[in-house]
Amino acid sequence: MRFLVIGSGAREHALVLAASQDPAVTAIACAPGNAGTATLAEPLGVDLTDPAAIAALAEQWRADLVVIGPEVPLVTGAADAVRKAGIPCFGPSAAAARIEGSKAFAKDVMTAAGVPTAHSEVVDNPAHLDAALARFGPTWVVKDDGLAAGKGVVVTTDVEQARKHALMLLDGGHPVVLESFLDGPEASLFCLVDGRTVVPLLPAQDFKRVGDGDSGPNTGGMGAYVPLSWVPDGFVDDVVERIIQPVVDEMAARDSAFTGLLYAGLALTSDGPQVIEFNCRFGDPETQAVLALLRTPIAGLLHATATGTLAEQPELEWADGSAVTVVVAADGYPGKPLVGDVITGGEADGVLHAGTRRRDDGAVVSSGGRVLSVVGTGADLEEARAEAYERIAGVGLAGAHHRTDIAARAARGEVSIPGR
Ligand code: AMP
Ligand code: GLY
Repeated sequence: MRFLVIGSGAREHALVLAASQDPAVTAIACAPGNAGTATLAEPLGVDLTDPAAIAALAEQWRADLVVIGPEVPLVTGAADAVRKAGIPCFGPSAAAARIEGSKAFAKDVMTAAGVPTAHSEVVDNPAHLDAALARFGPTWVVKDDGLAAGKGVVVTTDVEQARKHALMLLDGGHPVVLESFLDGPEASLFCLVDGRTVVPLLPAQDFKRVGDGDSGPNTGGMGAYVPLSWVPDGFVDDVVERIIQPVVDEMAARDSAFTGLLYAGLALTSDGPQVIEFNCRFGDPETQAVLALLRTPIAGLLHATATGTLAEQPELEWADGSAVTVVVAADGYPGKPLVGDVITGGEADGVLHAGTRRRDDGAVVSSGGRVLSVVGTGADLEEARAEAYERIAGVGLAGAHHRTDIAARAARGEVSIPGR
């Protein structure tokens, strides 16, 4: 199988790495990729915002399967264009990708499907903002009704900060979503969905805040681990039955059947799991940890998802033990990152690349905010953490920062669901 991955992050590097270990895969390309993917996959150029260009590239390269990593091409219709060219594509149509691209659409589907989620209101006129803010609190959640790469959300107990963020979004012409605050640890559940059949992967936990102890602003994600020892028995089956399958069925009934990866961001509250958000693609950095434990060859699995034959697939196989991934970010991230700094040690085992590129002189340099995603595995979380941090110690990048507490509380058994 000729396997083409679209995207350029560590998630895509993890997908390329998994494909490189699958005997069914005869060739791998990654567009546009990064310095890390280029060691395993043919690097191809493409504009991620141009669905026709992505489809043309897939035809030209004679791809048997196209796997689209990021949300932007999905929301703009890249999967539709690839399928129209007659090539199987892992990723939802533009219509189905609205589950991530429009928070209002996602809420509408969840309401129709009877799925537990935060109460929300959309505000599109600054004159209505204060009255709306008064209906929420004491913790305010303010979101951009659109794609914001995880950085459009402010969660605060300070109503002034909530008002300022909302006004900033409204000023930029973006409707604002206010939500009730969901209390409880978060989990990301990734499900393969072929329009109808749902196959869940192992749930993972992501760390959204930039600093240790969950301090500082939200980011795209600073680390993740798998498995979650603290979720109740039957958690995955329960979420599939009460949340994922109803949403998948509702989308099919609306003529926007979902195929690809449906990502449920959940808060495990005292009232049970509630949806924080849906994404229409693999999560980053959770994918780097989840795929480190997946033993089922990836190409056939994603191909079956893309072609509506998931129900015929054997049960997934997982390695025992744990995986932890820690993001190494550039100076300045999640604000404007410093780029162009030389990275050393980036070719070592477990080091996945995100914002990296190879300079003409052969040096690998930083080119984005999240630069590397370093993965460790082990018999338990403590061992996996130790391996990840040991590998980070072997990496050099001036001014870089990373969290030192990824999976630490879980390893100590300190994560719990409120009221349990
Ligand atoms: P989102 O962009 O919707 O994924 O939100 C980013 C992060 O903000 C989430 O991962 C949560 O940590 C936090 N968040 C979003 N919505 C809520 C909510 N209703 N209650 C509590 N935290 C939230
Ligand atoms: N891990 C957060 C995301 O992929 O959106």
